Amino acid sequence: MHSAIERPVTHPETESAGLAGFVGGSDNKNVEKRMRYLESLIRQWDLSYYVLDAPEVSDFDYDEVYRELAHLEATNPGLADLQSPTQRVSGLASSLFLPVTHHVPMQSLDNVFSDAELLAWAERVARGLRSTHRGDEFGIEDLTLVFELKIDGLAMALSYVDGVLVRAATRGDGLIGEDVTANVLTIDAIPRRLKGAGTAGSLEIRGEIFMPISAFNSHNAAVAAALEDGQSIAGERLKMFANPRNAASGSLRQKDPRVTRSRGLSFWAYQVASSTAVTFLSHLESLDYLGEVGFAVNPNIELVHGISGVKSKLERWTAERHSLDYEIDGAVIKLDSFADREIVGSTSRAPRWAIAYKFPPEERTTILEKILVSIGKTGRATPFAQLAPVTVGGSEVALATLHNAGQVTLKDLREGDTVIVRKAGDVIPEVVASILTQRSSNQIPWQFPQNCPVCGEELYQAPDEADRYCPNFECPAQVVARIAHFASRNAMDIEGLGETTVRTFYELGLLKSAADLYFLTQATLLGVERFAPKSVEQLLHGIEASKTRSLARLLTGLTIRHVGSVASESLARRFRTLDRIMEAGVEEIALVDGIGTTIARGVEAFFSDPRNIAMIKRMRDAGIDPAPVTVELDGYRQALAGKSIVVTGTLEQFTRDEIAVAIKAAGAKFVSSVSAKTSMVVVGTSPGSAKVAKAAELGILMIDEPTLVSLLNDDVSDLNGGMPNYDESQ
Ligand code: IVH
Repeated sequence: MHSAIERPVTHPETESAGLAGFVGGSDNKNVEKRMRYLESLIRQWDLSYYVLDAPEVSDFDYDEVYRELAHLEATNPGLADLQSPTQRVSGLASSLFLPVTHHVPMQSLDNVFSDAELLAWAERVARGLRSTHRGDEFGIEDLTLVFELKIDGLAMALSYVDGVLVRAATRGDGLIGEDVTANVLTIDAIPRRLKGAGTAGSLEIRGEIFMPISAFNSHNAAVAAALEDGQSIAGERLKMFANPRNAASGSLRQKDPRVTRSRGLSFWAYQVASSTAVTFLSHLESLDYLGEVGFAVNPNIELVHGISGVKSKLERWTAERHSLDYEIDGAVIKLDSFADREIVGSTSRAPRWAIAYKFPPEERTTILEKILVSIGKTGRATPFAQLAPVTVGGSEVALATLHNAGQVTLKDLREGDTVIVRKAGDVIPEVVASILTQRSSNQIPWQFPQNCPVCGEELYQAPDEADRYCPNFECPAQVVARIAHFASRNAMDIEGLGETTVRTFYELGLLKSAADLYFLTQATLLGVERFAPKSVEQLLHGIEASKTRSLARLLTGLTIRHVGSVASESLARRFRTLDRIMEAGVEEIALVDGIGTTIARGVEAFFSDPRNIAMIKRMRDAGIDPAPVTVELDGYRQALAGKSIVVTGTLEQFTRDEIAVAIKAAGAKFVSSVSAKTSMVVVGTSPGSAKVAKAAELGILMIDEPTLVSLLNDDVSDLNGGMPNYDESQ
């Protein structure tokens, strides 16, 4: 247990809050104490990260402490410890595998976190080159650099003799690593035998082993499912991983290589560390060689000229990092010319000719203050985390999803835990893991509450469902969530009516159901505090406009169990009017394409409830009367029937949900990943490069949005030209 180690208080907003009290200070004793403390922290974290595969802190928080220590050492050289963790490559060898000495030390990289720091690095490199053989004019725009993605996996050294893989070793402390050959031999992306004449003698290749995000997700999903069922997966110790990097590391450190094989690890080569057969003048030349002899080299490596070239690549990849099937935590920028690298040189820890540009963190460590439960529109109780606020994924996060009670138990999350929080791209923040070494003995396992936290009603658990529900139809949380859902973008799309406004109106007694929206008057709304005349006008306009929304949107908005926008579209297409749906029985509804008995029962139950009937009557009294569906979308099937379609990137005319509905309505399958079975890939703006590459590799037809639209439209005109329609009697 290392719980005695106290984490420093750090704030992302300031460079390093821990520094503030020391910079320029003359109190040497305090500075020295602080330095020893930071060293011990980093050693502790290195041990848990590299050897125990159980990180105690997010990378960002680690880097922050590391930088504080490095800064103190630079400003107080007399107090620096020669053995400080900043003076060597972190990482230690564990005792599970045999030690391997690296004849060419495996260095680390120095990090920068901002454009200003990147510029400072480039200036140092340019100055180094200027002082020798380049003219006075040589500057940062004259550098010939290679831009690479920084793969978030683990470094691997692969030794080949006469083209045959003889040993694979981890980095360890940079001088001594671990022999993981047996496990590495199971990784398909690593060639056992190399091609070509240039592989004679001994050769050492370095690169990154990583777990693809898809493999990581399926591993965690399989573990979660197995744990929920109380099973085990082929004798393995069941373990969910916090992130793909830990997953890669844990999967590589297995006693049984069969376990490693089952984890789907992959590899990208990025360096020829030594060779008796070949020499190179530049990095790009060496990467070409790696490709030729049989290694996978990341396709996103590019030659760039000058630091402005680097900046535009950084912008692109900061925005597109989530389009990849592997995690990156930044970019690596390297001098291309090996002669120039010689001139610029290295420190004991890292080369000066390369730099890692770290992206803003997507994982941070913080305190899980409370586990609370929210009640959704169907009454489902979902646990969520209240956190000590941290800046992660570009914004301040104080709440995070815990998905469901099963996840809280699986991850054994407890109030008061130090946890790793993740916010990647647009995905809602989640708590990925607790750091067990920081837990004290008085923290008890979390219990699901017995009662609804909003209305107090006892929660119930349906026999065939994992989730618990609040049974009270009038529960304020449910009512507010239902009305907000009714007004949401995919349903009736009432602008200016978000959950907060709905709650305010509910609390003032203005709304009891979505139907009441249509009876709100200007006079009433003008009386609502902090609701300006302009907002009142906009809202009333939005409500009025919603009266003519399609039948499918109305169905989506009603909160019918199991009925989302896709099922609503099918129901609207089949029955064409609200009355016919309301009259239909379970059997008839279940016959509709894509609708089974579960959905059919949900529909029937909804329309059998007098409270819902009363609400619909009130809506109709207010003038809501969706026109019967006239265009028979079934006709689409002629052109696209049975096709399997992937959409990647953003489309101009459709949201993802809308295009999914249109594709399904056309009788095609809307699938999320490209495979040999895919019929076509629709490529929007900022597409996923992995998807595009895969489609190109498999020779799958790629079309743009206008082409898709015309495919859909052509069919409609076909249909108007005499395709059979459903008629009323059907
Ligand atoms: S070059 C001497 N290139 O980042 C420099 N490293 O933080 C050797 N990494 O130990 C490293 N992607 O494990 C290099 N494209 C890339 C990389 C990369 C990921 C890792 C590597 C290294 C660590 C340093």
